[in-house]
Amino acid sequence: MKRRWMGILAAGLLATGCFDFGTESGSDVLGGTDAGSDTSASTGLAALHDSYLKHCANCHAPGAPGATSGTETSLNFSTVETTRRTLKGQAAGLTGNQQGCNGVPFLGATWQDSLLAAVLDENLRPNFVAPGHPECNGATGAVSRMDIRISEPMPASFLADLRAWIEAGAP
Ligand code: HEC
Repeated sequence: MKRRWMGILAAGLLATGCFDFGTESGSDVLGGTDAGSDTSASTGLAALHDSYLKHCANCHAPGAPGATSGTETSLNFSTVETTRRTLKGQAAGLTGNQQGCNGVPFLGATWQDSLLAAVLDENLRPNFVAPGHPECNGATGAVSRMDIRISEPMPASFLADLRAWIEAGAP
């Protein structure tokens, strides 16, 4: 009698445990699918812009209120389309320690080769050397940290999402 009860209890616990587990991972998978199902290129960059990059326009946009002399001048984060177009260009207008990065493309073929990644990823920055531009070197201070220039926190998945977008060829 006693053993049967324990068996039923154990089966009940297992069933409950399984059910909970299933529900949780089910919703995680759904969330992940939602974010990852942005196969449409513009949706990918639109989400990156809306969640974070739009704040960069405070300094990087024509006539931006936060711009000072020496602010990188070719980037324009005003809209998704100006962001897409200007990220495909090269850095300009940098002075002082950063001037070695003038002419460097913001986007490389990989995360490790992208100046945009180096200004946002603290793990990459000290190791970053722009391909073909040895003077644009994170270890010498030529690559500035940009995430601390805006007050809004970076969303947890932002770097991974940005990396996926860059490595998909920045569509
Ligand atoms: C408060 C103004 C300000 C904001 C906001 C800002 N930047 Fe900058 N950015 C600068 C300045 C100034 C420079 C020139 C380098 C320096 O002075 O550190 C620069 C340089 C850069 C460079 C070239 C860096 C280098 O050293 O070669 C990139 C790329 C860049 N910014 C991207 C961004 C991104 C992406 C954001 C948003 C996350 C952003 N910036 C937000 C002011 C800003």
